Amino acid sequence: MCALLALTLFLTFTLMCTASNILVLSPTPSYSHQVPFFELWAELSLRGHKVTLITPDPLNNSSLTNMTEINMRHSYGLLKNNTTLAQLFANGWNFYDVVAKYISQILATQVPHPKFQKLIAGKDKFDLVMVSYHYPQLLVFGKLYNCPTILFSPYYLYTYYYRGVPSHPAIWADVMLPFHTPLDFHERLISAVFNLLAWKSILTKDIPEKEKFIIRHFNMSFSVDELVRDVDLIFVRTDPIIHGVRAFGPNIIEIGYERKPKYPKLLKVGLKEFLDNAKDGFIYFSLGSNVKSKDISRNLLKTIMEAIKEIPYTFLYKYEGDYLDEKPDNIRLVKWAPQYQILRHPNIKLFVTQGGFQSMEEAIYSAVPMVVIPFFSDQEHNGKLMESKGIAKVVNRKSLKKEELKGAIKEVLSNSSYREAIKRLRVLARDVPMTGLEKAIWWTEYVIRHKGAKHLRNPVADLPLYQYYLLDVIGFLLIVVVVSVAIAYFITKKLVMMVVMRLRVQRGSKIKSL
Ligand SMILES: *[C@@H]1O[C@H](CO)[C@@H](O)[C@H](O)[C@H]1NC(C)=O
Ligand SMILES: *[C@@H]1O[C@H](CO)[C@@H](O)[C@H](O)[C@H]1NC(C)=O
Ligand SMILES: *[C@@H]1O[C@H](CO)[C@@H](O)[C@H](O)[C@H]1NC(C)=O
Ligand SMILES: *[C@@H]1O[C@H](CO)[C@@H](O)[C@H](O)[C@H]1NC(C)=O
Ligand SMILES: *[C@@H]1O[C@H](CO)[C@@H](O)[C@H](O)[C@H]1NC(C)=O
Ligand SMILES: *[C@@H]1O[C@H](CO)[C@@H](O)[C@H](O)[C@H]1NC(C)=O
Ligand SMILES: *[C@@H]1O[C@H](CO)[C@@H](O)[C@H](O)[C@H]1NC(C)=O
Repeated sequence: MCALLALTLFLTFTLMCTASNILVLSPTPSYSHQVPFFELWAELSLRGHKVTLITPDPLNNSSLTNMTEINMRHSYGLLKNNTTLAQLFANGWNFYDVVAKYISQILATQVPHPKFQKLIAGKDKFDLVMVSYHYPQLLVFGKLYNCPTILFSPYYLYTYYYRGVPSHPAIWADVMLPFHTPLDFHERLISAVFNLLAWKSILTKDIPEKEKFIIRHFNMSFSVDELVRDVDLIFVRTDPIIHGVRAFGPNIIEIGYERKPKYPKLLKVGLKEFLDNAKDGFIYFSLGSNVKSKDISRNLLKTIMEAIKEIPYTFLYKYEGDYLDEKPDNIRLVKWAPQYQILRHPNIKLFVTQGGFQSMEEAIYSAVPMVVIPFFSDQEHNGKLMESKGIAKVVNRKSLKKEELKGAIKEVLSNSSYREAIKRLRVLARDVPMTGLEKAIWWTEYVIRHKGAKHLRNPVADLPLYQYYLLDVIGFLLIVVVVSVAIAYFITKKLVMMVVMRLRVQRGSKIKSL
């Protein structure tokens, strides 16, 4: 026992690297992009690293003395003037155009910040720069501070920013597409065309804009492709058990894991009693932090309310508005809900969700089956994926009728296969050698210890795409075949001509001799 303890202590101290300075850039004003990494930043600072974090959602935890947060909360104002994120991204086909534009608008609100300017001045010292996946232009901080870089994605990896990600459109449909592996012919066709169009927006709009950003603000010149291929590691918040198996190289680390609920005890007085008293069970209805129930169409809201009225269960409904006129009696409204705690309440029966990545993860780790009403981005993809695992039913928002929603809710409530399947999935997802958080910390310190991880670089990153898709080989073989066929054709033609000529000559001489 003592020996074991000594060994553990020894390993802890030798494996822990000396305190280092880490710069984290996580600019996106969207709670669901921030929450997956709260624990990682806190944990790194608790291990003695000095973490400087740019974020619109600071933790404000005064006991984390080694963490310096640069508060970019004002970036949330970007959407206020205008529209919701869901409306902005309504059409999946121009997703990459819209993302590119939105990302540069976000940066425009943050770069002028004096603390951001101080970082650009390059007077500090960092041992590692960690950058959110949507901002490859910020990898230039790694060049500025001459240190390794890690990219992190709060959900899936988009294919396009990183050439080292094997991303064959025949195997993996983009997450903006409403289907998933395995793909039939029709889906592969759409997947390939979608990839081509996405590449077109990335190459013609997104990348030139990002490169201008680097020159304008850093007075440095780097191609985005080069910065991204130089990344030492990529952290992705997926788990192959939940999101599907992909052939990543060793420099892409999947760190999906079961987060702890952020507010362990907090369920407001009143809300707690309400949930405790729902003895026959309750249904939790939330469209997440980006789709606001108060902004969805009147018709859809009316359909939802009519369906809820006819379902003999208590509903807890996240509604951000002040007033809802057709509110049924079996519903309680909350403007904001500690979702993860609610999903873990013993009385919960079902979760009606928009199918956001984070919501899905929380539902699986709480073993609550779902009815999914997808709105935008990866939500339809997620919904279909969950349906294929038998843990959810998807309904179509655009043509939603009261009976369809009612039917889906009743089906998931009454058919126990959904609950059993999600419990099985949770058991599998939990059975891992180390959690995603532990993995992320281990690998972060690995990169610091070795001043990078270029030795893990995937050779795919150095392969031009036409070679990756074997276009040169296929082209060469096609030419060989075409030339061979042509030669064979001409030879055959010549031979036939010769035979014909000879026959004619023979016949001619026969005629003559007659
Ligand atoms: C802060 O970091 C130092 C080492 O750099 C460490 O000794 C200390 O425990 C850390 N404090 C907290 C609260 O994490
Ligand atoms: C942290 O503090 C900032 C400024 O004091 C505030 O805007 C923000 O809402 C706080 N964040 C949380 C999670 O409480
Ligand atoms: C602040 O961080 C400490 C250390 O991780 C943690 O124990 C505590 O619960 C956190 N406080 C809040 C309010 O999140
Ligand atoms: C929002 O609109 C107001 C008035 O039109 C303008 O002054 C402000 O700069 C806008 N904010 C953003 C973030 O675009
Ligand atoms: C508002 O949305 C439109 C597109 O819907 C976009 O062109 C415009 O830039 C947005 N404005 C802001 C301040 O986000
Ligand atoms: C940009 O860098 C070049 C040298 O690399 C220097 O001559 C020039 O003054 C810099 N421009 C600015 C605006 O700092
Ligand atoms: C329950 O749902 C599963 C999966 O959708 C289906 O295969 C099964 O037939 C259903 N059982 C009943 C009794 O409806």
